[in-house]
Amino acid sequence: MSDSASTHQAPAPTPHRGLVGVVADYTAVSRVSTESNSLLYRGYPVQELAARCSFEEVAYLLWHGELPDEKQLADFETLERSLRTLDEPTRRVIDELPLTAHPMDVLRTAVSVIGANDPDVMNSAPEANLAKGMALFAKIPAIIAYDQRRRHGDDLIEPRDDLGYSANFLHMAFGEVPDLVVVNAFDVSMIMYADHSFNASTFTARVITSTLADLYSAVVGAIGALKGPLHGGANEAVMHIFDEIGSADRVGEWLDATLAEKRRVMGFGHRVYKNGDSRVPTMKAALDTLIEEHQAQDLLELYTTLATQMQERKNIKPNLDYPSGPAYHLIGFDTETFTPLFVASRIVGWTAHIMEQLSSNTLIRPLSMYNGHPERHLG
Ligand code: COA
Repeated sequence: MSDSASTHQAPAPTPHRGLVGVVADYTAVSRVSTESNSLLYRGYPVQELAARCSFEEVAYLLWHGELPDEKQLADFETLERSLRTLDEPTRRVIDELPLTAHPMDVLRTAVSVIGANDPDVMNSAPEANLAKGMALFAKIPAIIAYDQRRRHGDDLIEPRDDLGYSANFLHMAFGEVPDLVVVNAFDVSMIMYADHSFNASTFTARVITSTLADLYSAVVGAIGALKGPLHGGANEAVMHIFDEIGSADRVGEWLDATLAEKRRVMGFGHRVYKNGDSRVPTMKAALDTLIEEHQAQDLLELYTTLATQMQERKNIKPNLDYPSGPAYHLIGFDTETFTPLFVASRIVGWTAHIMEQLSSNTLIRPLSMYNGHPERHLG
């Protein structure tokens, strides 16, 4: 080897800030394609699933890789319905939390309590993790509904096992089962949010899982990641900006000020989709049915005006949080409850990814480029 070859220094690697463009691993759970602006769950376009399947069928698909047959679906629904009740220890801890606590913090704490009370917590065998995922899938609606009710001074409403997932969720939150239009719109939102490849919260869950920590720890971490307004917190933030703007005729003035201050308009833009979020048209159609049901033309006008002006001025399109925020508002949820509703859906994707990560685990541990003080010594 020549001297010049032995002293040759490899060029310093360039950090990929925000992991932009980095392919971190394989996944068979979902595929986000920017070229075709599409989202596939286990190969099926999410729009087809939303039109033809229930959220329970989609959850089964994401966990098992195939849609259920009639018997598999019946067994799945029976099991889910048997697990819906909020257990006493979790309820007591929720009662101890201040009403000022954000519902995402309440939900994160409740999931932690469920994990701490599970004697099988460290069993990460596929069937054990599937059972844990199913229990969280069934119980999270009860936590969210109860937390919203206690904030209003209302009592807990027990689940009904004669109702499907979405109808029961709305029954526990509001004490009545709304029209089918409302139940269907809610079910569509659950399907739309269920998975989205290596988004920040799913990646968080996979990082935690890669250390061989338990499923609950991974889910609690994922809830923390989802809370931020650049991720799941955006659906709540959309409603706050709608309140701030007030009406369609004020959009221009509001947008001038917001863009001048270089503030982000929540519910717009996406790290992966640069030409529109593939989930928006389906969720917007569901929102339209709610607007019709509630005669909420003013809301529609505000929605459309802001979307049009963002397109004209910034060439930035809405993401899924933009139609889902107002949809949850019209269904009757408190604004602070919107991001927990995202959790209720994404628990399916997170747990599918946790199981996939474990099926061929490698510790996730990237490198960093040091840019601190040069080496120095004490004394
Ligand atoms: N409002 C205003 N400007 C936005 C914007 C938004 N919602 N989203 C992106 N931009 C602008 C940025 O200011 C930046 O402009 P610049 O180049 O002049 O500085 C440009 O578009 C690129 O933004 P960048 O932050 O590099 O894109 P990203 O891929 O890192 O960001 C998001 C993706 C989602 C973080 C970003 O679009 C955002 O903050 N959106 C609002 C929060 C939201 O709705 N999150 C839910 C995502 S599903």
